Amino acid sequence: GRVAVVMGGSSAERDVSLNSGQGVLAALRARGVDAHAIDGIPALLDAVRAGHFARVFNILHGAGGENGELQGALQSLGIPYTGSGVLGSALSLDKVRAKQVWLSLGLPTPRFKALPRGSDVHAAAREIGFPLIVKPVWEGSSVGVTRVFESSDLDAAVELAHRSPGDLLMETLIEGDGTEGGEFTVGILGREVLPTIKIVPASAYYDYNAKYIADDTQYICPGLGGTAEDEMRALALRAFDALDCFGWGRVDIMRDRHGKNWLLEVNTAPGMTSHSLVPKAAAVAGLDYEGLCWRVLETSME
Ligand code: DAL
Ligand code: MG
Repeated sequence: GRVAVVMGGSSAERDVSLNSGQGVLAALRARGVDAHAIDGIPALLDAVRAGHFARVFNILHGAGGENGELQGALQSLGIPYTGSGVLGSALSLDKVRAKQVWLSLGLPTPRFKALPRGSDVHAAAREIGFPLIVKPVWEGSSVGVTRVFESSDLDAAVELAHRSPGDLLMETLIEGDGTEGGEFTVGILGREVLPTIKIVPASAYYDYNAKYIADDTQYICPGLGGTAEDEMRALALRAFDALDCFGWGRVDIMRDRHGKNWLLEVNTAPGMTSHSLVPKAAAVAGLDYEGLCWRVLETSME
């Protein structure tokens, strides 16, 4: 039957999602799938209710598409979709709830404080200690994220994060030392854990610009060797399972200079742009972009 590739939407990651979606759409068509682009949830639900689609490839990023709303609506209509269900999506988009679940299971995640609007952010920062990182709880693609090294920079970071919906998260900043540690990510496809990627941005941080605009980030895949590689992949799968995620996704992990891994978050509809990470790891595992899109679509049938 016809497949809706739902993309765009109204989150801050709209443009990223449109890029991901155009890539997925072209790949599915190249594989002979009768795939059609749909922009946002209201248009999707209208089309599904009118009987136009048998299945949905969800490549909306951020709130709406990645927080359980879309998943609940499609489930109630009996339409299969790619990726995690209501619970896994909702837990994953909320960085604080994800961390609380991991902590309750003894899985490592950086020390943090959840800060509802109006909280005493300076008192919280004294508890966490510098350097720290301030993030909106529900955002993606580093939108609204600031690393804070001293208290004089805290108010600007909080102000920026508050431009996004939801509460703030303040977290200990984990960093590598140039040799050991740094930023990693692990893609998951069905029950297969892809090789880790180590992300080495040319400028100090892997921010929105480094993610989608500049072409100067280095990606090392596999990111680790020997048992360290297997340990990180096993941790990623445990973190994914803990949040009741399935189908596909990507687990973001920081590794410190002592080689300890710290879970940051799970993305349940990870980026599929030409700059994105899951396609890079899949390629190293022997699956090209078209094959990857086909495999993700297949997970909606399992
Ligand atoms: N949130 C972006 C799309 C990602 O995780 O790739
Ligand atoms: Mg994210």
